[in-house]
Amino acid sequence: MISIEDFAIFAKKKAFVYPSTEIYGGMAGFFDYGPLGVELKNNIKNNWWHSFVKNREDTVGIDGSIISSQKVWEASGHMNSFFDMLSECEKCKKNHRADHLIEDSLKLSVEGLESDALDKIIVDNKLKCPNCEGNLNKIKKFNLMFPVSLGADEKTGQKAFLRGETAQLIFVAYKSVVDTARVKIPFGIAQIGKAFRNEISPRNFLFRTREFGQMEIEYFVHPEEKKCSLLDKSHLDLEFLFFSKENQEKNKEQTKVKLKDIIKNKILGEWHAYWLAESYLWYVNLGIRSENLRIREHTSDELSFYSTGTFDIDYNFPFGWKEIYGNANRGQYDLTQHQKHSGKSMEIFDEETRTRFIPRVIEPSFGVDRAFLSFLYDAYSTRKDEKGKEVVVLKLHPKIAPMQIAVFPLVNKLQDKARVVFSEIKSCFTTTYDKSGSIGRRYARADEQGIPYCITIDFDSLEDHSVTIRERDSAKQHRVKISELKNELFKLIN
Ligand code: GAP
Repeated sequence: MISIEDFAIFAKKKAFVYPSTEIYGGMAGFFDYGPLGVELKNNIKNNWWHSFVKNREDTVGIDGSIISSQKVWEASGHMNSFFDMLSECEKCKKNHRADHLIEDSLKLSVEGLESDALDKIIVDNKLKCPNCEGNLNKIKKFNLMFPVSLGADEKTGQKAFLRGETAQLIFVAYKSVVDTARVKIPFGIAQIGKAFRNEISPRNFLFRTREFGQMEIEYFVHPEEKKCSLLDKSHLDLEFLFFSKENQEKNKEQTKVKLKDIIKNKILGEWHAYWLAESYLWYVNLGIRSENLRIREHTSDELSFYSTGTFDIDYNFPFGWKEIYGNANRGQYDLTQHQKHSGKSMEIFDEETRTRFIPRVIEPSFGVDRAFLSFLYDAYSTRKDEKGKEVVVLKLHPKIAPMQIAVFPLVNKLQDKARVVFSEIKSCFTTTYDKSGSIGRRYARADEQGIPYCITIDFDSLEDHSVTIRERDSAKQHRVKISELKNELFKLIN
């Protein structure tokens, strides 16, 4: 398993991700995506949008503003409840996230514990500042929202914040969508965009940053509707690693379960189960190995202030199993809060039952950068080349690979023919052209960039109008007529 530090070096060297503003010394918790990274990230987002918005009849999209009034965040509860526990060193004044400090020193999970309980653990275990061994001050609560000042007059201007989650912009746009977009319950509103959190200690490369992407759906259901008409065999028979609340509390291991069993045992409601399964399948269908994924139920202590039940999808990173996706049962919390604070009705009128109600909400929430990190990390593998040298092969799914095809003339003399093939296929697939270096070197370069198929034009191509397709994962090659090439590539990629 490559460490996350070495993986960050690899990602930089191969033009996926750079520390942001590096020429000025960089800034913790901010990253820039390079030429290959931006393609992979766009493919992840486009695929998500396609699967959860374009391909469905019950979901619509929005693109909400990034800055919003303090009123929104007062109503949502973020001003009063969106805190991390900060532990400051008396001597060097370095700030630590108290739960991380305890987790790292004692290998103890303390998610959701209040400041008094954390203080007690620090004192009882005589924990010191990891930076300078100094004593730690009493824990303070630290709000994660980023304030921004609007307009020229800071004193009279409206107080505003960068959004701490994309979800709230869905809740505040909900009334406009219901009034204008002909949605009918049950329905979802989806959004992809940036969120910002003033994390005390950003770490583990892209895992915990201060600016990150989210892909979120708020799915609105009639409050009395318990049956989910969309659940089918593919969801019910889905088998996965599951870490129940009960097993965590009893210090037991995660187990393999089927979705239908946890519905039967009333651990999950049907709508919640449906969205968890759809989301889990999205990751797996785009190539993440299921042995590296698990579903973890939140313990009662760690539930967010808006949730009555949350289930995460965790990825098995080199720094442990960590959340890449969260699915909360937000009930009627957010719409009720916005109705109260704005004075505007959030009720829906249902023609069929002639009733008015505030829908309840299930929230599948995907992190863009954590999805990116897990797809890229899961794809990373090495093999020995013919000379016995270890080389990297990025086994990215062809649907998200930054480049799908590479076209190579065997030698420069064959460039005219290779250019014809390149122009023919580049309108259908993301394709790169490479003429420099030996053919072996070009294959190795393509493997490192995660290009699933390479096409080589050789001298025989001039006679038999065929080319060689070389497959990244097996390194196997086969010949195809140029007239059949597009069809063959469509088949391989889809
Ligand atoms: N609307 C619900 C919500 O925001 P969350 O669990 O706080 O819930 C959802 O965040 C997802 O956003 C997480 O599963 C993760 O993928 C991503 N995320 C949250 N904080 C992050 C951070 N500091 N850096 C990168 N991604 C983050």
